[in-house]
Amino acid sequence: AAYDAGEHESYMRKEILEQPTTAQAVLRGRLDERFGTAHLGGLDMDARDLRAVRRVKILGCGSAYYVGQMGAALIEELARIPADAEAASEFRYRDPVIEPDTLYVAVSQSGETIDTLLAVQEVRRKGGRCVGLVNVVGSAIARECDGGIYLHAGPEVAVASTKALTNMFLGFALLALQLGRVRDLSIADGKRLVAGLERLPGQIEEVLAGEDDLVEVAQQLAEARSLFFIGRVRGFPVAREGAQKFKEISYRHAEAYQTSELKHGPLALIDPEVPTVALVPADELAERNIGALHEIDARQGPLVVVTHPEVDLGEIAARRIDVPRNEPELDPILLTIPLQLLAYHAALHLGHDIDKPRNLAKSVTVE
Ligand code: G6P
Repeated sequence: AAYDAGEHESYMRKEILEQPTTAQAVLRGRLDERFGTAHLGGLDMDARDLRAVRRVKILGCGSAYYVGQMGAALIEELARIPADAEAASEFRYRDPVIEPDTLYVAVSQSGETIDTLLAVQEVRRKGGRCVGLVNVVGSAIARECDGGIYLHAGPEVAVASTKALTNMFLGFALLALQLGRVRDLSIADGKRLVAGLERLPGQIEEVLAGEDDLVEVAQQLAEARSLFFIGRVRGFPVAREGAQKFKEISYRHAEAYQTSELKHGPLALIDPEVPTVALVPADELAERNIGALHEIDARQGPLVVVTHPEVDLGEIAARRIDVPRNEPELDPILLTIPLQLLAYHAALHLGHDIDKPRNLAKSVTVE
């Protein structure tokens, strides 16, 4: 009885559709249009503390790890601070070097994932500063961190994370903006990004309005035993997250690959039975990405291309899914939304329990 998705057939779909509203909630009161920056009250770091950060290390598991990779890219691009993400489940086992001028960021929907919690404790035991990007207020990870950013996505029930993941991305954007604006990110760029963030909830709504057009392609993908998700640079973590979501609930083998690495191995697997979902944003890599699509097309590999209206795919036989453009740094999250819908409709078609996929738990709290 506690399990009630209301009029929706599943919590996952309900949570997907909530995103325009929940995205507004994480941004609310935190954007500064005048100075093109963000204000993060919970961070507990002043401009001097923020300037002292020389590296950023993001720690999370599963989808939180993949969105952490998107976050690392945002921080490097906006703040020009070296940043990377690592699976929190591996971190403490390799005797990591903890440095005082590194900012550690733990990212977790539940705030209870044991691997992430133990990674935070490892950082703090060695004197490192760790902030949290956490959805559940007062959770173990939130309490263990030195301040942080609450995600305000509301309760997320479906195992496959959607609205919390989107807010993680937005949380990273706010952090990157604030880190950037105490460094070399110009006020013009700051304002450009603030305006971009303000446009995002509406654009997420636009992508969701295209749901009906994705149902058939999702059903076709569901019939494949194995598929690829490919992307480059900003698009690669999107591909990883897309593949993760697809395998979590459809139980199909979905593998993420860098588009550039296709020719160094997996191209051998491409044939009419193995579809590829390709991320091709209208960026400086679009032409090279399209080159790789030709290689797939020439081997009759079925193609689904998530892209922007400006991108010309020429003669390539592909099912295209267009998403609106934002600022290039913020585009990854809009590219992620259709992948949620593809995974959802594939699993629905296969008759799986969408909210409670086999073998998985919403949060893994034991080692
Ligand atoms: C579990 C779930 C994943 C989730 C991961 C991290 O493994 O099955 O969907 O991404 O935990 O959860 P967290 O609550 O830390 O974000």
